[in-house]
Amino acid sequence: MKRKAFITGITGQDGSYLAEILLEKDYEVFGMVRRSSSFNTARIDHIFGEVELVFGDLCDGSVLNQLMRTIRPDEVYNLGAQSHVRVSFDVPEYTADTDAMGTLRLLDAIREEGVQARFYQASSSEMFGKAREIPQTEETPFHPRSPYGVSKVFSYWITRNYREAYGMFAVNGILFNHESPRRGPTFVTRKITRAVGAILRGEQNELRLGNLDAKRDWGYAKDYMDGAWRMLQADEPDDFVLATGETHSVEEFLDAAFGHGGLEWRDYVQIDERYFRPAEVDVLIGDYSKAKEKLGWEPNVRFEELVRMMVDADRERGKLEEHYL
Ligand code: NAP
Ligand code: GDD
Repeated sequence: MKRKAFITGITGQDGSYLAEILLEKDYEVFGMVRRSSSFNTARIDHIFGEVELVFGDLCDGSVLNQLMRTIRPDEVYNLGAQSHVRVSFDVPEYTADTDAMGTLRLLDAIREEGVQARFYQASSSEMFGKAREIPQTEETPFHPRSPYGVSKVFSYWITRNYREAYGMFAVNGILFNHESPRRGPTFVTRKITRAVGAILRGEQNELRLGNLDAKRDWGYAKDYMDGAWRMLQADEPDDFVLATGETHSVEEFLDAAFGHGGLEWRDYVQIDERYFRPAEVDVLIGDYSKAKEKLGWEPNVRFEELVRMMVDADRERGKLEEHYL
């Protein structure tokens, strides 16, 4: 019998890579999608016939119960979220409903329906926020700086609580920023690499950005989804940081991306205060030694290669308005 995996957020960056990884391992893959007035499956169209898509929403508890009851998965990956930090200041209540309450609804659906599933929660380095120490580990206290970060802290703790209270195999992957050619176009890395492609095609001559001093630990999404799968294969449920252990500023990303395209970013970038945040996370850098020791996990792709991969993909794509990804 094939193992069954259920993924929320399958249409997102991470969900698409995870679905590919699980199909390669011969899982039966179920993905929850939201109804949309336009297509929202571009990242999984290439595996459309191999995965089973079901409609649902993390804000709708009754459908989560029904899906757990009928599918009875062996592994549940909760990747669905309103994942944009800046947007979470504009829609804090919706962000909390999806990113905090949604996790509780899903955990409770598993428990109430008596499903023996292992559960992965997409926790985030954004929980460290105004970071208390450098680098951040599984033991670093949280100080979230956005409605998104606060919601993820709730989800982190409710996941641990269901593990401790009900003996569920429920884990938190505390993932630092991870990117790819499939990264959403409004996150800073992809916004930059898409702009490089568009500038080189003569379609764009300006890039408006916010805080260039922020530093992030940027890795490759596919590596991180391999790590998420490993967490659910461990002997005991536990929480793990996945990171590269390197940090770079947005300005360094600009240097690398525009440089790879043979361009000087200062000729194109305008600072626009619309992209500043009411509260910022200044520096993130993770220590992944626990994942290395206990899961044998290490990042394969580092900063320079990641930037080149993203710029090359965006150079090859057609006109900006014709591609969603
Ligand atoms: P993403 O590309 O923004 O994908 C988010 C996914 O969640 C999409 O499939 C989206 O569906 C779905 N979704 C949004 N609201 C939903 C709702 N109310 N009910 C059900 N599904 C909903 O995000 P990602 O980069 O793949 O990240 C995956 C997860 O990891 C998220 O939980 C994110 O917060 C977390 N995380 C990401 C990073 C990172 O650097 N990428 C780091 C740490 C943690 P639509 O396609 O219909 O919008
Ligand atoms: N999005 C965006 N757009 N960010 C900008 C811009 C801009 O025009 N200009 C500067 N930045 C800065 C932000 O202020 C932030 O400090 C940094 O670039 C990274 O922003 P994002 O790419 O939006 O990512 P994030 O770090 O806020 O959040 C991502 O990583 C988290 C993990 O730490 C998201 O993927 C979250 O879902 C994830 O949890």
